[in-house]
Amino acid sequence: SEARSAFPKDFLWGVAIAANQAEGAWQEGGKGPSQADVMRFDPDLDPRSIETIGSRDDVERALADVSGVYPKRDGIGFYETYRDDLELLGQMGITAFRTSIAWSRLYPRGDESEPNPTALKFYDDLFATVRHHGMRPVVTLTHYEMPLHLVTELGGWRSREVMDHFLRFAQTAVARWSPLVDVWMVFNQLNTGLLDPFLALGLLDVPDAEMPAVKMQALHHQFVANAAVVAMVHRANPDALAGSMVLDMTAYAASTRPADVLAQVQEEQATLFPSDVLVRGAYPPVATRYLREHGNSLDIREGDLELIAEHPVDYLAISYYVTRVVGEGPTSLDRIGWSINGDLPNPHLASSPWGWQIDPLGLRTALNKYADRYPGVPILIAENGLGANDVLTSAGEVHDSYRIDYHREHISAVRQAIDDGCTVMGYLAWSGIDVVSASSNQRSKRYGFVYVDLDNVGAGSERRIRKDSFDWFKKVVTSRGRAL
Ligand code: BG6
Repeated sequence: SEARSAFPKDFLWGVAIAANQAEGAWQEGGKGPSQADVMRFDPDLDPRSIETIGSRDDVERALADVSGVYPKRDGIGFYETYRDDLELLGQMGITAFRTSIAWSRLYPRGDESEPNPTALKFYDDLFATVRHHGMRPVVTLTHYEMPLHLVTELGGWRSREVMDHFLRFAQTAVARWSPLVDVWMVFNQLNTGLLDPFLALGLLDVPDAEMPAVKMQALHHQFVANAAVVAMVHRANPDALAGSMVLDMTAYAASTRPADVLAQVQEEQATLFPSDVLVRGAYPPVATRYLREHGNSLDIREGDLELIAEHPVDYLAISYYVTRVVGEGPTSLDRIGWSINGDLPNPHLASSPWGWQIDPLGLRTALNKYADRYPGVPILIAENGLGANDVLTSAGEVHDSYRIDYHREHISAVRQAIDDGCTVMGYLAWSGIDVVSASSNQRSKRYGFVYVDLDNVGAGSERRIRKDSFDWFKKVVTSRGRAL
């Protein structure tokens, strides 16, 4: 069907991946290990569960394990194949390509004073190649990946010293790549620090009772770091855009019971508090109240709050996959662990085999919510996509009409939100090319328009195959959203 009018001229159409799920080459070119490299693929996995690592013992066990499968160590081999992969993705006519820099490639242990020259050269060429194929690089500084040494030896983001190491890494990246990169994203899904302390914050061995306070401290360091990087980016290029990303966690009330409605409001206050800090430059009442009730233990140094206030983000990036249903109970501020679908199913929505509830209209709701909450702040949809068990036919084709439907309906919702008056900068599909799943460490949870012939244990020809969705997305992009 033909949508009425084209999307704005400068709208970014693109795809997004992350270093830790694509590059592989975990020990090549001097790279050090990161959290991603100790995430094991479990063949008996319940696809609906999201497991994480909680202790140094888990990490040591993984590093010593010779029989287990750790798919992110090899990713899709992007470290070697990026030139061909980018050429292929560029053929869709997309104008943006999002990836992240592996912090553990630039600073293998994290505490070195000088960056790894091999890594500098790799990203020089990667970003130049992105540009060469007509795409604007959208670069995440850290995406679920940090030098493991900083996790096991310094305690991850709870440590102020780790923040300083991060800022040295960020300074190196911004100074070197500002000529090529003018859309920077400091953190991936910053609010998931509430749910996944290991992957997002590098926290280990934190007793449950202490976790709320430790999470808040780690997040505080990320807020300060975010502000410092926004300032850094603007010093390097006043026209560049600096932002960070949050996971959209739009929640519906489980019922019309007033207590459920209040719970829904409180849940959204909890999951939106990190973006409130990023955009408004101040902790919102829900956070200050929470801190007061939990002993106010936050270590805020002189100048922190001023820095946060002075350097709000230029734009807010969101990822959008699901909506959730919540009723009376603890909010995400108190939870430890994932509840991607809330605790309750939504009878009005279908879900993927991984239990992720599919809700295109929810994206229009979400965008309107941000427009009201953060007036005038552009929203970049930095991820949206469908993880599915694609089948490669004997003729070497992948017929993924379900993925086309998914993106069509979500892009239509974006169109409607723009008509509602929302400012949307762009739409980046996760993941353009199949990568390893962040949560399940599977390669069989595929999101790409390009199929990668590799399975969960790393067997396969590594061949890249255009899925049906590839040609469809190309049509959408080249018609600027008219041909949906
Ligand atoms: C987002 C992450 O949560 O969702 C990505 O930023 C991730 O890293 C994507 O891959 C999809 O999640 P998953 O777990 O299905 O790979």
